[in-house]
Amino acid sequence: MSEVLHAKLEGRRPRIALVLGSGLGALAQELTEAVRIPYGDVPGFPRSAVSGHGGEIVAGRLNGAEVLVLSGRVHYYERGDAAAMRPALEILQAVGVDTLLLTNAAGSVNPAIEPGEVMLIEDHIAFSGMNPLIGEQSDRRFVGMTQAYDRTLHEQLAKSAETIGVPIQSGVYMWFSGPSFETPAEIRMARRLGADAVGMSTVPEVILARFLGMRVAAASVITNWGAGITGAELSHAETKEVAPRGGAKLARILAHALPLIH
Ligand code: HPA
Repeated sequence: MSEVLHAKLEGRRPRIALVLGSGLGALAQELTEAVRIPYGDVPGFPRSAVSGHGGEIVAGRLNGAEVLVLSGRVHYYERGDAAAMRPALEILQAVGVDTLLLTNAAGSVNPAIEPGEVMLIEDHIAFSGMNPLIGEQSDRRFVGMTQAYDRTLHEQLAKSAETIGVPIQSGVYMWFSGPSFETPAEIRMARRLGADAVGMSTVPEVILARFLGMRVAAASVITNWGAGITGAELSHAETKEVAPRGGAKLARILAHALPLIH
């Protein structure tokens, strides 16, 4: 399965892959020397049907650093399959990717973290109760998650943000299955249980990437307050509308950090 992607990369050997969340696709347009590969051209590569999610791999350079961008991901809520992204990550690994940077849009449950801000994920709570490794047979399934998010990567992203003067937050991401948004009671619960932000993605990929032995970092673009905090109803339209604003900040942070990640 990976031979096709390998050939289409035309000699590029990116070690870093970047997964773009809802409304964050603009970053893929910033790559130079880019080659675009529709997911449909790579046998076995999972495709998302969610609006606001692209469906292509873009390999190129961001600020000179080689990177492979996944514009669009498959979510648990699309098919009820927490392991939906496993083939994608296995194909990336087979072409040489060893570092995975995940991004998403998320709601804030922490009054100090506002919509439009970027939050580095320092840890997560898999509140959905699902796990992409259910059914895996080997003992490798017992993946240690004590330090799931790589400290060095996290520090580099935070340092880059500081250097370029973009304020950045850090916190715990709680994974709800979606696709309905949370209720106000669930948001109050999330806060009490230690979450800073809530969302419907990323955690399965973090578990899978750790299973595969990849280094992982993740960041949320905060698009809204969690349900009930302001009384306004939540919507995917709002997510798609607000995400590009925080996304532009995240893009600047990544552009600075990527050449410094080895
Ligand atoms: N909840 C879950 N997922 C989200 C949210 C939210 O408030 N905002 C963007 N993605």
